Amino acid sequence: MAISEIFLFIIIIIIVLPMLLLYVWRTKTPAKTSLPTNWPLVGMLPAILQNCHRIQPYFTEILTESGGTFQLKFPRVFNMDMLLTSHPANIHHIFSRNFSNYPKGPEFRKVFEILGDGIFNADFELWELHRRTTLSFLNHSEFYGLLESSVWEKVETGLLPVLDDFSENRASFDFQDVFQRFAFDSICRLVLDHDPRSLCRDLPYVASEKAFNGTTQALLYRHLLPESIWKLQRWLRVGEERKLSQAWEAFDEFIYPIIDFNEKNPKSDHNNLLASFRKAYEEKNGSSSLTRDFLRDTVLSLMFAGRDTTSTCLTWFFWLVATNPKAEIEILEEIESKLMRQKDEGGEKWRLFNVEDSHKLVYLHGALCESLRLFPPVALEHKAPIQPDNLPSGDYVKSNAKVIVCFYSTGRMESVWGKDCLEFKPERWISASGGIKHEPSYKFPAFNAGPRTCLGKQMAFVQMKMLAATIVYHYKIELVEGHVVAPRDSVILHAKNGLKVTLSKRNV
Ligand code: HEM
Repeated sequence: MAISEIFLFIIIIIIVLPMLLLYVWRTKTPAKTSLPTNWPLVGMLPAILQNCHRIQPYFTEILTESGGTFQLKFPRVFNMDMLLTSHPANIHHIFSRNFSNYPKGPEFRKVFEILGDGIFNADFELWELHRRTTLSFLNHSEFYGLLESSVWEKVETGLLPVLDDFSENRASFDFQDVFQRFAFDSICRLVLDHDPRSLCRDLPYVASEKAFNGTTQALLYRHLLPESIWKLQRWLRVGEERKLSQAWEAFDEFIYPIIDFNEKNPKSDHNNLLASFRKAYEEKNGSSSLTRDFLRDTVLSLMFAGRDTTSTCLTWFFWLVATNPKAEIEILEEIESKLMRQKDEGGEKWRLFNVEDSHKLVYLHGALCESLRLFPPVALEHKAPIQPDNLPSGDYVKSNAKVIVCFYSTGRMESVWGKDCLEFKPERWISASGGIKHEPSYKFPAFNAGPRTCLGKQMAFVQMKMLAATIVYHYKIELVEGHVVAPRDSVILHAKNGLKVTLSKRNV
């Protein structure tokens, strides 16, 4: 036998044969477990790469099988081992009881560098400044009046004309895109006092509005890929990182001119968010060119908070309603019984309702909560303890360990929500006396938990109820046949391919 043949034979015995046997074994034996194999050298990386197109469902399978907490192992050189948890006791511990040990930390800031010094990245004093100033804006006596008028104005001048066109032509369209435009225009009006009018009859391309879609997937990959890899991609401007830098430019081109205009034309408005932040920042740091960047970071973070969350919730809500006709009928009946003027009172049937009225829509509230439970727009959170810690689940975390808290999985655990946890049941949220049933935030963490609980929760419910009631009352929604609706792998749980629907008018 020639030397080359011997060499080939050895290669076959040592490498090819074991791989072949492994392949046959993996394909013939049904997978009994979702838990990833911890391979020598590569750790659990193969399983993560194999499932990275369905990361939220995959994490949920792992967490369900492992009782709510699981340690993911990666090659040592990458230094990216992470503890996954969806355990309510751990959530309570991390976000509330031991809050001071779990700041966002430098890793979070690296991933979300696009948000600079905005509230999502801030810790300690800077976070307090943000929280205080944003709260005083949202709690201002004029705020809800402003919210009501801006939502209804957008409904009448943007949403209804667009939906009427689609329904008259029986044309299919992407509902998610419509909700994103609505939420973008609304948050810009509230935060910047500027309406970019991305939601109007011709559905214009507004670069800064579309830029959000280019960021959220890249941000998820930054959580999951070794830092050296995404940094290399960023440097080369390729893949998701390229989209992220393009989005960054689009945001800056949109926001800076508005900040500059606002500075040159100050308004005497009592509740001007930019002016309040400028004042708070300069009281602490003095006046400098940094204020402009700080305002840009503040505004972009609030735009993120307002645009992607409510629009994602509404997308899943309408998908769930369209696939649960019984719930649609209940919502419609509630709108008619709680909001409409009675015919014998001689009034119009449909009327624009106010914040107080929105609280009467208990079933609709439950349906929105169900949507948030099954599809929380912010599907995971990243935490890093300052000091080593023992979690209530019994797991130990080193200081600066990467803890990924999976809100999506918490909403889908039988141990938390019972046997029917995967079913859409708005009645789950209605108490015996007919009011709204409150669930603790560690069990229902869609709005986060503890001191960093979402500041826009009330406002989001009001806005979403106004939109949902308007749409359910005026249109019957049908899903486009064959269109697959599934979560996108992204830090925000968008629907991957949007939500394709057709509408027909009702109550005309
Ligand atoms: C369905 C709608 C919404 C959901 C599910 C939601 C969810 C969340 C979550 C999970 C967080 C924590 C994020 C983190 O710490 O990384 C958060 C924080 C926040 N949200 Fe919301 N949000 C919604 C709507 C809004 C709206 C409309 C606003 C208005 C501007 C808003 C303002 C904020 C702010 C300012 C924070 C930061 C709180 C802090 O760090 O102290 N949210 N939200």
